[in-house]
Amino acid sequence: MSKQLSFKLVLLGESAVGKSSLVLRFVKDQFDDYRESTIGAAFLTQIVTLDDGSTIKFEIWDTAGQERYKSLAPMYYRNANCAVVVYDITQSASLDKARTWIRELQRQADPSIIIALCGNKSDLEARRQVTKEEAQKYAEEEGLLWTETSAKSGEGVTEIFNTIARKLPTS
Ligand code: GTP
Ligand code: MG
Repeated sequence: MSKQLSFKLVLLGESAVGKSSLVLRFVKDQFDDYRESTIGAAFLTQIVTLDDGSTIKFEIWDTAGQERYKSLAPMYYRNANCAVVVYDITQSASLDKARTWIRELQRQADPSIIIALCGNKSDLEARRQVTKEEAQKYAEEEGLLWTETSAKSGEGVTEIFNTIARKLPTS
């Protein structure tokens, strides 16, 4: 018997790190060089098939990173099963912002939430400001999943959602 479970996933992170681009790549396998900054939040869904043939449905809240929307975030992470906190590997300040989001999730979100830290724009290696070692060490200390992605090339994008899907409770 195949069954389908639904899980709520929230994306958080500074404006312009590529949250909406990651979701667009994951859901539609597309990329835009000129994306409008998100207003409020956007909702999308995607289904992932696990190794045993069962499927899970992600209900994705892509939040707006601009400071003026910050107070809305708790509405989206409150009942989330998983969170992807995104930074831009070419902007070290965006990792500081990601740490702030992670602290907030650790204090305010459901204690069982699965948190993945995601360094996006890995295609821009020449402009890298955040080393893999630094981010990976921090993720290990905090017990987070960690990976780098490029919404532009698609590298690592499916993998991060699949890794989260495999960690979710299926019974
Ligand atoms: P807010 O909605 O304001 O919070 O921003 P966001 O995090 O959703 O960022 P968005 O997806 O809108 O992307 C911002 C800019 O970065 C856009 O111009 C994208 O084309 C670009 N971008 C996103 N991901 C990548 C990537 O992996 N590589 C490169 N080179 N550019 C990217
Ligand atoms: Mg956006």
